[in-house]
Amino acid sequence: MICKRIEYTDFRNIEKEALDLSPETTILYGKNAQGKTNMLEGIYLFAQGKSHRAGKDSELVRFGAGRAELSMKYVSGGRENTLSLVIEDGKRKLPYKNGIKLDRLSEMIGNFRAVLFSPEHLAIVKSGPSERRAFLDVAISQLRPVYMRTLQRYNTVLLQRNSLLKSMKQGASPSLTASLEAWSEQLAEYAARIAVVRAGYAEKLSGITSELYSDMTGSRETVSVSYHGTSRIGGDYGDEARIRTIYKKQLTENVEREVLAGSTQYGIHKDDFDIMLNGREAKFFASQGQQRSIVLTLKLAEGEYSKLETGEYPVFLLDDILSELDPARRSYVISGIKERQVVITSCDTSVKRRIKGGLSYYIKAGSAARVNRD
Ligand SMILES: Nc1ncnc2c1ncn2[C@@H]1O[C@H](COP(=O)(O)OP(=O)(O)O)[C@@H](O)[C@H]1O
Ligand SMILES: [Mg+2]
Repeated sequence: MICKRIEYTDFRNIEKEALDLSPETTILYGKNAQGKTNMLEGIYLFAQGKSHRAGKDSELVRFGAGRAELSMKYVSGGRENTLSLVIEDGKRKLPYKNGIKLDRLSEMIGNFRAVLFSPEHLAIVKSGPSERRAFLDVAISQLRPVYMRTLQRYNTVLLQRNSLLKSMKQGASPSLTASLEAWSEQLAEYAARIAVVRAGYAEKLSGITSELYSDMTGSRETVSVSYHGTSRIGGDYGDEARIRTIYKKQLTENVEREVLAGSTQYGIHKDDFDIMLNGREAKFFASQGQQRSIVLTLKLAEGEYSKLETGEYPVFLLDDILSELDPARRSYVISGIKERQVVITSCDTSVKRRIKGGLSYYIKAGSAARVNRD
């Protein structure tokens, strides 16, 4: 997968700019708050369908402008394609692929694949389950478009079930109880489908991560990743029907508690995955350095697995990550991403000297100036 060119119009602080990207490494460097991350965000939008940091789409439109537009040319499977996106009146419009309007945003996902790596991701080990779930969901969605649709359906049913629980708090009635039953059935069905895919993905990732981890750290430490739904599942995700029954049972047995809370207390929106270092929970026992290495290898493993499934590497987007690494890990990452397309942002101009080949741009106030590599 190669991103060849991206054009921005009134996107964040970029009024009008285009970047031609090297098939190897492209470096975007410059001072703080100039638009380096904005440029990566624009590329990543095509992979994920939504921004990794904006709460609302309207944030993406340049202050004072009414409409933002992004257009990207990329090569996948030897074929050149274009994708384009418009954000207007504070909302994303449907994307276009090769000039043809897609029916849904989710149809775009999986066309262009990228792995983003930003300093916030260092929290995947330490922070709460929602960051870990987001990591899985984003990675899997790019490989399986159906997964994303199931997730969207799950979330819709979840909202409906929650509002029903709130109504029941005001006073239950037989018809509300019957509706709840139906929503629980639906929710359990989607939950099982999602949990099985997530668990399978975690298992695949586990092996790759562990291998990369010992490579990177030159140690014999092992890292494993396993999906963690409810304890009743007991780690065995082989049988979807069984998983569905377990989720369903939880939703049926705890209605009183859920009515009291006014929201759904069980399901894949509460699930998590465990990251173990040498058999112990990394969240509690890994040092800062170990956490960093774990997250780095998780992201590299995401890229490796994507290559295994699709036959080509995704584009790696490294946002301000190199300066945070010690020299050993930095050179591991730099050598580890050879033969892949990488776009790197950095405040540190010395990054240009450390990486040979490719293109460099100096980013200032939303504009990019091509710089010769020395
Ligand atoms: N919608 C927007 N319109 C105009 N400027 C924006 C918008 N959103 C963010 N910015 C500006 O973009 C700059 C931050 O860009 P960013 O890419 O995060 O910087 P960096 O180069 O440090 O990565 C800030 O100056 C911010 O005010
Ligand atoms: Mg930045």
